[in-house]
Amino acid sequence: MPRTRDLTDPDWWRTAVVYQVYPRSFADGNGDGIGDLAGLIDRVPYLAGLGIDAVWLSPFYPSALADGGYDVDDYRDVDPRIGTLEQFDELVAALHAAGIRIVVDIVPNHSGSGHRWFQAALAAGPGSPERARYIFRDGLGEDGSQPPSDWVSHFGGSAWTRVPDPSSASGQGGQWYLHLFAPEQPDFDWSNPEVREEFHDILRFWADRGVDGFRVDVAHALAKDLSEPLASYPRIHRDVLKDDGTDVLFDRDEVHDIFRGWRDVMNEYDPPRSAVAEAWAAPARLPLYARPDELGQTFEFDLVVEPWDRARFRESIENALVRAREAGASSTWVLSNHDIVRHATRFGLPADVDLPAWLMTHGTDPVEDRRTGLARARAATMLLLALPGSAYLYQGEELGLPEVGDIPFDALEDPIWERNGHTEKGRDGARVPLPWTPDGPSFGFGSGGSHLPQPEWFADYAVAVEDADPSSTLNLYRAALGLRAQLATGDGFRFVDDRDGVIEVVRDGGWRSVTTFGTTAALPDGDVLLSSAPVGADRVLPADATAWIRDRA
Ligand code: GLC
Ligand code: CA
Repeated sequence: MPRTRDLTDPDWWRTAVVYQVYPRSFADGNGDGIGDLAGLIDRVPYLAGLGIDAVWLSPFYPSALADGGYDVDDYRDVDPRIGTLEQFDELVAALHAAGIRIVVDIVPNHSGSGHRWFQAALAAGPGSPERARYIFRDGLGEDGSQPPSDWVSHFGGSAWTRVPDPSSASGQGGQWYLHLFAPEQPDFDWSNPEVREEFHDILRFWADRGVDGFRVDVAHALAKDLSEPLASYPRIHRDVLKDDGTDVLFDRDEVHDIFRGWRDVMNEYDPPRSAVAEAWAAPARLPLYARPDELGQTFEFDLVVEPWDRARFRESIENALVRAREAGASSTWVLSNHDIVRHATRFGLPADVDLPAWLMTHGTDPVEDRRTGLARARAATMLLLALPGSAYLYQGEELGLPEVGDIPFDALEDPIWERNGHTEKGRDGARVPLPWTPDGPSFGFGSGGSHLPQPEWFADYAVAVEDADPSSTLNLYRAALGLRAQLATGDGFRFVDDRDGVIEVVRDGGWRSVTTFGTTAALPDGDVLLSSAPVGADRVLPADATAWIRDRA
């Protein structure tokens, strides 16, 4: 049953369950194979019935789709393939009427190369104010034919691309521009006040339209050390980041100044707009982004890399809670998103599996244990939903959907595939359009096809199928979210650490959650409210399961 929520509560985000919609793959309203706002508006009752508090909408802006929409050509509009601004307003109204908030994705590190600013920069030439909004440099070597530094792109290859010189008839001898991601994603120069002003204005544009919060894409990359000569930085990996605010490209101290400016803008609104940082920074530095005078929250990504292991889960949870407390924030629990192999699959593969290599075998080697993966995924979700803080769910995880490992090479859309010389498939396996019905041209995604191929087995995970099955993952999520809303009062919480292979959590008000990792466990006294796997009359919880129990008064 949809709940009523107070849309004026300024602290809603601290405990919210936020559901990520990847719009091109959620629901297609006009049958062209691409998900859109019409499809999403139609499914608002589904979202209300699921019991989420907010939708996080991944980029829906005009884009050449060089990186699934994270190459934004216009920050103040809707991609015509996805809809119109009027439909966006309609979506906000429909969500709000259902008591659901909306968070939009802001992509401040780079624009798309079709953005009017980048096009102006190309035309204006070296030394112009137009180029100063981005990061243009002369090349090295006598004829400038070498990139300005050894920096590499996240998606493979050099982070620099050379452009023609608009002042020479041949176009020869042009400058290079920086792109930490695809060449179609030129990085802004955030030391330029014009860039800062522009983004303040973009935040206001969406806040004025009723948007409740922002998810900040690669928040840790905005400030860079651009002093000459450019420092060497031949590798991009979270493990090589310095953790003292002086790394060349990421998580530099100056970035916090930018977000303090954003907080001032977000506080112009009543209630203040919320934000969550996507920052792949050293764990100890994450609380900085979440400070009350900055973004408020930052994603905790530990559990998207950890295997199904009691000690690793216990430690990650503890650390995340400590970090959130340090920042005066609340923790964020994440198991999946559009960049990561879906967790129902991760937990069904050996702990030490090399996921990109596994995808290159089209998901055949090693063979995934779907039953175990799903059991653990359900248990993990219930464990995280029992913790203080907010939870971020990714579309399809409520169906227990596995990764699509067997997308043929020639159907891939992720730039990672081309940029790595066809050695890595990338992230498309988590972005395949959702199955809504067990049959139909695209399993009910729309009346036409689907921009990424859906496998036959999607039928088993269709919303309509799971809706009708009381033991389905969809119905487990619905029940869990409904109970959580009633039970999760306050932050009061402790672990009961007296059993091997078990994580037991006790919340204020006598709500207990017990999770088993590879072992069974006798449940403590109390009423079993919900469990991810059947509990027998002997009250033994099977392995790889979670049960919620209410203490008897
Ligand atoms: C973030 C997004 C990812 C995108 C990248 C570049 O990591 O989640 O999908 O490719 O930023 O914008
Ligand atoms: Ca469409």
